[in-house]
Amino acid sequence: MKIISHRGASGYAPENTLKAFRLAVEMGSKDFEFDVHQTKDGILVAHHDFDLLRTAGKEAAIADLDYSELKKFNVAAYFRPEKEALCVPRLEEVLDIVGPGSDWLNFEVKNHGNIYPGIERKVLAFLESQPGLFEKSVVSSFDYGTLKRFRELSPRLKLGFLGHGLSTMLLLPAIKRAKAIGAVNFHLALRIAFKLNVSRIKKAGFKVCVYTVNEKKDALKMSSIGVDGIFSNYPDIMGEWILKG
Ligand code: G3P
Ligand code: MG
Repeated sequence: MKIISHRGASGYAPENTLKAFRLAVEMGSKDFEFDVHQTKDGILVAHHDFDLLRTAGKEAAIADLDYSELKKFNVAAYFRPEKEALCVPRLEEVLDIVGPGSDWLNFEVKNHGNIYPGIERKVLAFLESQPGLFEKSVVSSFDYGTLKRFRELSPRLKLGFLGHGLSTMLLLPAIKRAKAIGAVNFHLALRIAFKLNVSRIKKAGFKVCVYTVNEKKDALKMSSIGVDGIFSNYPDIMGEWILKG
């Protein structure tokens, strides 16, 4: 089972910052997830939310800022132990850190309602800009329209289906939707990662990765029910727990 650093080692350092990714690499991570947005001037960046309220304590949306303005915000402000000011990194800076030694990368593209028109082309061009990057990457999104556009642009791209507000009852229609776009991965919320749900998704031919797993009992359970990967904010201790059982 893969242990995927979720937003970097985000249990120890501010999420989606270069510090969190560096730390994950130091901890021996080979598999990474990060959230992708686009600035007003078309720069791809790593951040979870569409705005900076939670992380920087400021009311400003990424879509309304050029990168030169965005990088002035301290997105470590929310993270209590952190004293250093840290900015939203450009995607290429993240890749400089995690790219070389990584086995698997998950670009989670946040594009609800197509707030970033053209982001799919940009992400694809980015994936094709470095040797080997396209092959080891999976692009996921909660926005189905975004996944469809990715598929139209590239028949070979590995897609990961994410279902917003998914429940056990809505699982079969979700599997159909994931199949319709030729997804290879199905990323499932921990709250519905039951054995039966996981085996249904696996039987349909998908790899199943579960988010977000930060507790030992959950990690061991996911491993025992045949999950292919877990997204965790604590990639180091997760690995130890799985090894020791
Ligand atoms: O990509 C898995 C997981 O990160 C999806 O949820 O909200 O943490 O981006 P979220
Ligand atoms: Mg994410």
